[in-house]
Amino acid sequence: KNIAVVYGGDSSEIVVSRNSAKGVLSFIDPSVYRAIPVLITSEKWEAEVDGKAYAICKDDFSFVQKDDRVSFDCAYVTIHGTPGEDGRLQGYFDMIGMPYTTCGVLSSSLSFNKFACNTYLKGFGVAVADSLLIRKGTAYNVDHIVDTLGLPCFIKPNAGGSSFGITKVQRIGEIAPAIIKAFEESDEVIIEQFIQGNEFTCGLYKTPKGERVFPITEVISANEFFDFEAKYNADKVQEITPARLPEKTTERVQKISSLIYDILGCKGIVRVDYILSNNNIFLLEVNTTPGMTETSFIPQQIKAAGLNIKDVFSDIIESSIN
Ligand code: DAL
Ligand code: MG
Repeated sequence: KNIAVVYGGDSSEIVVSRNSAKGVLSFIDPSVYRAIPVLITSEKWEAEVDGKAYAICKDDFSFVQKDDRVSFDCAYVTIHGTPGEDGRLQGYFDMIGMPYTTCGVLSSSLSFNKFACNTYLKGFGVAVADSLLIRKGTAYNVDHIVDTLGLPCFIKPNAGGSSFGITKVQRIGEIAPAIIKAFEESDEVIIEQFIQGNEFTCGLYKTPKGERVFPITEVISANEFFDFEAKYNADKVQEITPARLPEKTTERVQKISSLIYDILGCKGIVRVDYILSNNNIFLLEVNTTPGMTETSFIPQQIKAAGLNIKDVFSDIIESSIN
C-alpha cells in the first residue's frame, strides 16, 4: 500500500513538520507499506521519490513517475498548523475520497481554535483557564484585560502551535507588543489567565481494536514557560515519562484525555496538554497532529507504554483505510 506522508504547511511550524515527517517515515513499516513524503505548501504540492520531486495532481492526489501513475491508499498527515491541523486538508481529502489518519474536518478545526475548543469543552465540565479573544482590526482595552485576567497572563495566537508568537506578559505595558506579535501568527489572539502549576501531556488514540492512552509526560522547562526554544532543545527542558504523579492523578488525566477525545470525535493520534495546579487539572490545548520529531512526546510515550511504534502506526493506517 502506498502511504503519503504529508508534511509542510504554510505556518511557522513548517520547520517542525519537516522533522515530524522524518519521524513518521521511520515509524511506518517498510515491509508492509511504501511511504512517500509529500510536501504541501502554498506554492507547491510535490511527492518526493529518490531525491526527485513530482507534482501532485490535485484531482486525485496522484503523481506520474516516468510513465506510471502512482496513487495513494492513505495520507498520513503530519502538517502542524494550517492547512493540515485545522481541517482544510481534511475537507479536501473528504472531497476526493482519500483516507487520512487525522481527525475529521470539524474536530480538526475546532481543536485548532484554542478559544472555541476550550469554551466548547468547558461546557462539558473540563477545567480551562479564563480567557479573552481579540480579532484583528478590533479595539481592545488593556485595563479590561488586566482587570479580567490579572497579571501575569499568556498572550497566544488563537490558532497556532509550537509556542510560536506566545508571550508570558508580566506588566501592562507588555500587552500591546505581545498582541502584535501573536497577530503575526493568527488573525485572532487569545489572552489566558496564568495558572501556576506544572505542565503535563498525554497522547492517545482509538481504533476499532480498542483505545490506547499513553503514559503521561511531565515537562520541566528551564525557561519562563515551555516556549519554542525549550520544545526543541533538549538542554532547555526535562521531559519525564511516565510522569511522577500519584496513580489517582494519572488515572484522572488519562480519563479526561479519553473523554475529550470522544467529545470532540477525534481520530488518529491526538495529544492533550494540561497544567496541574493544586491537584486541579486544567486543559491547555488539544493537538490533533502532534509532533513526531525525534524529541517529541508521542514517540517517547509509545516507547514508555512498551508498544512497538511500527505496530501503532500500522494500526492507525489500517483503521483509517477501512
Ligand atoms: N504543535 C506541535 C507540533 C505539537 O503539538 O507537538
Ligand atoms: Mg500545540
